[in-house]
Amino acid sequence: MNFNPFPEIKTDRLVLRKIEESDADIILFLRTDKTVTKFIERPENRKTKNKTDAIKFIREITEAFKNKESFSWGITLKNNSTIVGTICLWNFSADHKIAEIGYDLNPAFQKKGIMDEALKSVVNFGFSKLNLAKIEAFTHKENESSLKLLLKNNFQFIENRKDEDNPNNIIFEIEKPAINKA
Ligand SMILES: CC(C)(COP(=O)(O)OP(=O)(O)OC[C@H]1O[C@@H](n2cnc3c(N)ncnc32)[C@H](O)[C@@H]1OP(=O)(O)O)[C@@H](O)C(=O)NCCC(=O)NCCS
Repeated sequence: MNFNPFPEIKTDRLVLRKIEESDADIILFLRTDKTVTKFIERPENRKTKNKTDAIKFIREITEAFKNKESFSWGITLKNNSTIVGTICLWNFSADHKIAEIGYDLNPAFQKKGIMDEALKSVVNFGFSKLNLAKIEAFTHKENESSLKLLLKNNFQFIENRKDEDNPNNIIFEIEKPAINKA
């Protein structure tokens, strides 16, 4: 499937748009703020420490999108183009049937149902436009807000799967609903 231009997504309150180099300051904030990153462990080579790293990261996700390796959206409110959070589908399986979802939100915009709205639209995009069979989520076992978000969106806890790279993570998945199946 060809995604040119970038597949912007609109919901009732939100526009999920392409992340540009001009968004580097907010990307740096989201990837360094202590509240946002409390439960997110990134390997040293994926850490964003300054604006140069943030620009490099944005270039990497732009390139990954062109290569159909990942989709990263900046979440904005309809009346303001400033990014308040991000959401992505990445880590695709070789057959492109499974992807992992990731997300973060500026604390000033949490507890308003914004990520709930964004996640629903991205899950729907994954199943209907990318024809994914399954979407996975790896989340820290004590990340209550993230656990709540996944459970209320029908992600199932997969008890017997372990994250080999991070024993603190637990794994959830959602399968393509029958209504989306061809
Ligand atoms: C995980 C995260 C995105 C969840 O954000 P959130 O704002 O709590 O999630 P939601 O969008 O689902 O909002 C739900 C809350 O908004 C409230 N809410 C208010 N208005 C609402 C509306 N119109 N619709 C739905 N919920 C609404 C809900 O009652 C709920 O509150 P509660 O948690 O007290 O029950 C956020 O905590 C975050 O960015 N954490 C840091 C990054 C992170 O850990 N990412 C996960 C990595 S795996």
